[in-house]
Amino acid sequence: MRKLLIAGNWKMNPMPSPLDAYYPRSDIDVVVFPTFLDLKHCIDAGMLCGAQYAHAEDSGAHTGDIGMGMIKDLGCRYVLCGHSERRADHSETNEDVAAQAVAALEHGIHPIVCVGETEQERSEGREKSIVAAQIEALFQLSAFSSQLSIAYEPVWAIGTGKTARPEDAEEMHAFIRSLLPEDKRETTRILYGGSMKPDNCKALLSQPNIDGGLIGGASLKPEQFSTIVDIAVSLFPHSS
Ligand code: 13P
Repeated sequence: MRKLLIAGNWKMNPMPSPLDAYYPRSDIDVVVFPTFLDLKHCIDAGMLCGAQYAHAEDSGAHTGDIGMGMIKDLGCRYVLCGHSERRADHSETNEDVAAQAVAALEHGIHPIVCVGETEQERSEGREKSIVAAQIEALFQLSAFSSQLSIAYEPVWAIGTGKTARPEDAEEMHAFIRSLLPEDKRETTRILYGGSMKPDNCKALLSQPNIDGGLIGGASLKPEQFSTIVDIAVSLFPHSS
């Protein structure tokens, strides 16, 4: 059985307040991704935390970057790899993202690898081939482990209020699962991200192949995040 994971990606925003909504819960995993500045505060306060990014190399001449070992030493348990905003803003390729996932696994950090198509790619009917290429890059570096999760975040749904219909998201999640190595297929969590809110999360999280959410905007509003976490807890154990 896959434990639901509800993750809050605070992106480049100040820490929300109060922080009560973001603490670990016993039935599901609750993880937050603060800015690098706020990570230590959140870790010291007892939250399960991840970094929004870390470099595939441990150290070196990479101004402005940070290594996996550094975030591990700080107490991060998770890292996002290949969020679409980083793929777009920093030209991260599928191969870069796979290398980050390998580095995370080597440091005992759980990578959440983000995949998803743009609006144009979907309108051209290419969404599955785009996502398949993003997933297959992970196999080339044998970056596959059950200590890795995937987040399907259609780019057109991020921060737009346009959520994927639960049946469309489920179809893509089932497709992603079908691509995974057979021995990891049933254990790997596949999260949905893209305008997940209290009023649509139940329909999404009830789908058999949706194992949690990666939440941006609503994770900055403690009441909304806490409602989503409560709904996820009420759905556990997951129907799969
Ligand atoms: P929104 O929930 O604001 O659409 O952001 C989703 C996201 O990018 C999470 O990583």
